[in-house]
Amino acid sequence: MVSRVIPVEVFDLVIFGGTGDLARRKILPGLYRRFLAGQLPEGARIIGAARADFDDAGYRQFVNDAICEFVKSSRHDKAHIDEFLSRIKYLPVDALGDAGWQGLASLMRPNVIRAFYFSVAPRLFGPLAERLHDHGIADAESRIVVEKPFGRDLKSAKALNAVLAESFDEHQIYRIDHYLGKETVQNLMAVRFGNMLFEPLWNSQYVDHIQITVAESVGVGGRGSYYDKSGAIRDMVQNHLMQLLCLIAMEPPSEFEPDAVRDEKLKVIRALDAPDQQDIVRGQYRSGEDTPSYRDDAENDESTTESFIAMKLGISNWRWKGTPIYLRTGKRLRERTSEIAVVFKDPPHSIFGEQEGRRGNVLVIRLQPNEGMNLRVTIKEPGPGGMRLIEVPLDMSFAEALADGDDIPDAYERLIMDVMRGNQTLFMRGDEVEAAWAWTDPIIQAWEDARKKPVEYDPGGSGPDDSLMLLHRDGRRWREIKA
Ligand SMILES: NC(=O)c1ccc[n+]([C@@H]2O[C@H](COP(=O)([O-])OP(=O)(O)OC[C@H]3O[C@@H](n4cnc5c(N)ncnc54)[C@H](OP(=O)(O)O)[C@@H]3O)[C@@H](O)[C@H]2O)c1
Repeated sequence: MVSRVIPVEVFDLVIFGGTGDLARRKILPGLYRRFLAGQLPEGARIIGAARADFDDAGYRQFVNDAICEFVKSSRHDKAHIDEFLSRIKYLPVDALGDAGWQGLASLMRPNVIRAFYFSVAPRLFGPLAERLHDHGIADAESRIVVEKPFGRDLKSAKALNAVLAESFDEHQIYRIDHYLGKETVQNLMAVRFGNMLFEPLWNSQYVDHIQITVAESVGVGGRGSYYDKSGAIRDMVQNHLMQLLCLIAMEPPSEFEPDAVRDEKLKVIRALDAPDQQDIVRGQYRSGEDTPSYRDDAENDESTTESFIAMKLGISNWRWKGTPIYLRTGKRLRERTSEIAVVFKDPPHSIFGEQEGRRGNVLVIRLQPNEGMNLRVTIKEPGPGGMRLIEVPLDMSFAEALADGDDIPDAYERLIMDVMRGNQTLFMRGDEVEAAWAWTDPIIQAWEDARKKPVEYDPGGSGPDDSLMLLHRDGRRWREIKA
């Protein structure tokens, strides 16, 4: 079922930052897996570009090592790896200088798709776009893939959009949010809009509330000084959680077409209420028995950056008015897990008596680990004990449901192939990113004005107690953070 591949045309993919961490861990191994799946057409080439002074052979060794480290060993067939490596080239190029650009221009072939992956620091996005344009390397059908973060506020995002727009049309710009490439996220749209079952119930009349949790068990160590300048709201909420929220809350688009989908997502962001400060909890992890505190990780004793955030949001439109959406994300929590839970209201009356209570259904969309969906329904407990009700899951774990669940493509693989097909549905449009920042900026500004410090929380738990209270005071509770 998963092995069916939609062919793409011959391409030249240039990975700027081809020697970096993201290329090594995600992009190159992902391309190899697509090659194994038969999706790289004959003649497709991958060209690494960075300042490091590799030749083709040296870079192929780098790619080989990346495959060996990040692709499972059952896929390490030497003949396949060698064939894949034969499509790899490397060119030293400086995004901020002249070095390498003439060489890149002459390496490009006519009549093949040209895609340029900007897997470099954001300050290089603009200079790369300009040079691609000035050296005539990009044509009208070329695509650029831009990594996150896309700006750090509305002003910088607008400036970046403007710089890119000088050299590329919007239809050529693929702003990547790898959450959108996850199988479950796309399945969310299939479940919502491909079935009659859920959509009639998908509104404030039937949905009590929605919880979106993206929990990580690791701290920020290693990238602490970078993280300290962004915090959970910039690093996670403005992009990933916002995108998930849009897909959950949007109206059905008229067709599954990039702008139709993105128009509907944009409307959700614009309908988001500005949250009350008392509906936001910011936290910072303490040190644990053998783990450093956030401030130690960030190497900043005075840091007021949040490593955890929980918020209650409202959407002012006919569908969702009155249904709160609770978001939470943080580092050093109990488990690494991401899920969306749509909690339906209780039946209006329990025919089984008050003792059995009223039980709402919960649809859980799990992004990681074990991508899948799970609908909790109420049934009678089997056996002769009278009418006792229990909740059981109707489980749809992709790994089990699909013939070769092991082959579910990683988000990056899927998204890179979408770039080659010219399909922008799962990429953020410029106006979406700006709308998300326009919503986020005043929240951050209010913290800065109030000089509010985050509350501390213990590592390995579910975040600050205040976050539990955020739901408790509404008579609700967070789902347990568990893998
Ligand atoms: N790593 C992740 O898991 C991850 C996740 C999400 C998003 N991202 C985003 O992806 C991008 C890349 O991240 P990364 O972790 O791969 O960074 P990285 O490991 O620091 O790699 C940066 C790359 O850029 C190249 N580079 C630096 N200056 C250059 C210049 N002047 N001209 C040409 N190339 C230059 C570097 O090679 P040379 O030094 O040899 O030039 C290197 O290949 C960033 O925007 C990051 O925010 C990364």
